[in-house]
This record gives sequence, C-alpha cells and structure tokens, in this order.
Amino acid sequence: MLRILLFLVVVFGASCCFVIRTRQKDTIPGPLLARITTYYRVWLLIAGDAPSKYASLHKRFGPVVRTGPNHVSISDSKYIPIAYDAKHVFRKGRFYDVFRPLYRGKPMDTVFTTSDPALNKSLKRSLVTHMLSRPQLYAKEVDESVDMFIQQMQAMEGESIDISSWPFYWAFDMTYTLVFGGSFGFMANRCDFNGMVHSFKTILRSTAVLGQVPQWCPTTLANDRFMTWCRSFSSFPDPTIKLLNAGSSPNTLRRVSEHTLNAHDCGQSLLCRVLANRTLNEDSPEYLEVVNVLFEGYLAAAGEVAVSLTSIIYSLLGDPRVMQTLAQSIRSKDMKVTPYLFVHAQLRSAELSNVLPSTAVIKESLRMHTSNSPPMERVVPHGGLAVNEHLLPEGTVVGIPQYVAHRDQNVYGLDADDFRPERWLEADESALRAMEQNFMTFGKGCRGCVGRELAMMEMRAFVMKVLDVYDIEWASETVRPRVANYWMMEYFDFYVRFKPR
Ligand code: HEM
Repeated sequence: MLRILLFLVVVFGASCCFVIRTRQKDTIPGPLLARITTYYRVWLLIAGDAPSKYASLHKRFGPVVRTGPNHVSISDSKYIPIAYDAKHVFRKGRFYDVFRPLYRGKPMDTVFTTSDPALNKSLKRSLVTHMLSRPQLYAKEVDESVDMFIQQMQAMEGESIDISSWPFYWAFDMTYTLVFGGSFGFMANRCDFNGMVHSFKTILRSTAVLGQVPQWCPTTLANDRFMTWCRSFSSFPDPTIKLLNAGSSPNTLRRVSEHTLNAHDCGQSLLCRVLANRTLNEDSPEYLEVVNVLFEGYLAAAGEVAVSLTSIIYSLLGDPRVMQTLAQSIRSKDMKVTPYLFVHAQLRSAELSNVLPSTAVIKESLRMHTSNSPPMERVVPHGGLAVNEHLLPEGTVVGIPQYVAHRDQNVYGLDADDFRPERWLEADESALRAMEQNFMTFGKGCRGCVGRELAMMEMRAFVMKVLDVYDIEWASETVRPRVANYWMMEYFDFYVRFKPR
C-alpha cells in the first residue's frame, strides 16, 4: 500500500513539474489540459458541439489558442490563405489518415487523404478531367434524379417525410448514376435498404473522433485484422463494403472489371470516362487508381451534398420569410428550370435574377451550418509560422475553425449570427471578396473542394425544381430536430411535409 502511495505521489509530482515547465515555455494561451494531452481535442468533439466549443475558446483566450500539445487553433481570417495555401506548402495532418478506406487489406491513400502533393495531383487530375471540369455534362442525370425525388414525394403525398434521410437517398442515388452508371435504388425502395446511409453517418461520427487521436489508427481503422474482426459483426457500419455489395447487378467492383463487355449500362458515368476503351487487369496499378478515383468520387461527393441539402432545408424552414421570397422568385420565372443554366459562364441578366436568390440562399445556409466541425488541419512547414507575437515551430498542426470564420463580424457584419441571404446580394465588390475569402464550406487553397461547381449545380437544381412544385412545411407544429456536428452536420427526428402548391 505504501509503495502504491509513493508511486502516485511521484507520478503526481512529475506531472506538476511537467505542467509548470511547459507553461513556462509555452506562450500560447489555452486550457491547461490542452497543453498536456491530445485527448483534450477528443473532449472538444465528443458531444457533437465542437464548433461552438472552438468559438468559446477563442472568445476566452484570443485569436491563437492551444488545443493540444502540438495543436493550435487560429481565428484571425488573414491566416486563411496562409494555412490553406495554393502550393501545398502547408500539408494535411494525420487527422486524414482515418478516412483512408481499407482496400485489399491495406489503407488506401486517396485524393482527399494524402499529404503527398504528387499523388494528390495525379488522382485529382483524373477526377477533374473526367467529371468535375464540366459539371453541365451531368445536367440531364441531375435533373432526372430530382424528378425521381419529386415523383416519390407525389406518391407519398400528405405523409410525414424523414428529411434527415431523404436527401441522402437522393444524393446517394444521383451520385451513383454519375460515378458508376445505373441505379442504386434508395429512392425506388423508399428506404435505406442496404443500411448504407446509417453506416455512413455512424462511421463518420466515429472517424471524426478517432481523427483527433490518429496514433490509434494503425491498430484500429488501418489494421486489417482488427477491421476483419469488426466486419464479422453484421451491424458494423462500413459504407465501403455496402457500396461494393450494392444491390445493383453486377456489383460495383464488377462494373469496373467487366466494363469492356459490350452490354454495359454505365451511361456517360465517371467509370465509363476513366476507363474509356481500356481493359484493366485487376492486378495492374492502373486498376487500383481507377478504383481509388471512383470510390473517392462517390463517397466525397454524395455525403457532403446530402448533408448540405438537409442544412438548406433546415434554414428555409427556420425562416418562412426567406422560404416564401425564394419560392416566389422561382415560381415567377418564365424559363425552364435546368441546372445547366446555372453553371453556364455566359448567363444573361434575366437568368441571373433567378439564379442569384437561390445561390444566395444556398451559400447563406452553408455559412450558418458548418460543413467541417473541427478546424481542417494543416502542418506548419520548415521555418515555422509567425502568428501575432507567437512563433509556431515546424510540425505544429494548425487550423482555422470554419464556424468562427463564418461568424466574423468584421467580414459578415454585426448580424453575422443571423441567417440573412440578402447579405450576398447587397455586398459591394470588396465586401463580397472578403466574404468569399472567409467562406470555408468547400475548404480553401490547393486542397479545397474540386466538386464545388458540381455540388452547387446539384443543390440549385434540387431547391429550384422542388420549390417550383411544393411548399415544404414542418410535419409537427412543436417537434423540432436535434442537431449535432461531429464532422458534418447531423439532424435527428427531422420530419416535414411536401404540400403541392
Ligand atoms: C456541398 C457539397 C460539398 C461540400 C460542402 C464539400 C466540402 C469539401 C471540403 C471542406 C473539402 C476540403 C477538406 C479539407 O481540406 O479538409 C473538400 C475536398 C474535396 N471534395 Fe468536396 N464538398 C462537397 C461536394 C463535393 C463533390 C460533389 C465532389 C465530387 C467528387 C467533391 C470532391 C472533393 C474532393 C475530391 C476533395 C479533396 C480535394 C483535395 O484534397 O485536393 N466534393 N470538399
């Protein structure tokens, strides 16, 4: 007993000395726990309210806050173009390791996860060339997917609709058509028939938390034996497996290896474009690259679009004035609503008057509803980073919280906390430039979102076509959804009714 007591006293004394020494050395303000343990960041995330916790930290400690022994959060907007630069100077941190899917027993670095600029560029080239450089090529498929959504709402007229799920059904179906061709079948089945949506949400929540302690990754998410054991439980959430074994026939991977068959049904999908007329042997390095590009194209695109659309609907329901103004402006048009119009570089002014309100509403919703809960991590390069009076050494992991940048009153005005889409229409050129610079929904710099235009086209098509025919209202006068944000926004018990206008 005496030995244990002595041991505890020594450990306590050593910890005190360590804390005092680090406090003396460390000039960056922040909570005591953040100095001594990386698990402090797990605590920031685990309740699903990290954005407001980061905002409170900055309110209390100022523009530079220590959030872990090697992590610093910065709220000053002028560091956005520095930390999220255009030339891969600040590389991605280890947080992204947790998003590497296990393929053939090994974690696969993707365009999104890799910190290697060369790999990032080569994978991105494929995605951009074949899919994202001309999103208007997909206007027909996007249009048809919204029509399918509308048909399903017509079939369920008067029913209470779970809108925390239906945007996922729409986005997962639509993206499957764009990436692999054919149809996945969520909307047709009117449910999460293979559990993929549930898997996606659950795994995203856990990976966000695990990403705060990436040292666990080699023994957990990146460990084949551990993951094989987890996958032996049928309830284990694994969207990659669900995608591979998708209900469509042939299954997703066979779509790649059998693409040369004459009777393929992948339309003008990314799969078809990437493969062109090639036959790829499953063991060739190119095969791996194609699978990589397809999976990333699918998973990066579908989830983000679904969550963002849910946030847009949530914002509109929260402000009937905006909902009405937008619906009126859409319904007063005398042109056919096709998403193509909204990405065309040569918009005529008559068309612009219809475009701008929906774009402003979408951007304002995305400004209010943070797409990345913790700051997107970047590593300070050789030479360090001077932030105000502090010099952050090479290797420090820094990030600028999106929630804080989106509520900066110097940029968005004193009413920055309010949902007011008009701010995007009223701003003069220089104010708009500052607002755009702080708008971090799609990330920033050379690692920013390459699917932004496609995503905006898809969401505009949805909002404009659906509001053209329906009024959306809460299913209940009193029950409101619960909201959480571990990595992306999540809505629980979110029910609405689509009423034909
Ligand atoms: C509203 C929908 C979307 C949102 C809010 C969104 C958001 C983001 C954000 C914040 C990043 C940067 C993440 C970081 O730096 O940590 C990103 C990167 C990326 N996004 Fe999106 N995204 C959306 C739609 C799409 C779509 C439709 C695609 C199509 C394939 C896509 C593909 C990608 C890819 C490939 C990257 C990685 C780029 C790189 O690391 O170089 N995203 N996205």
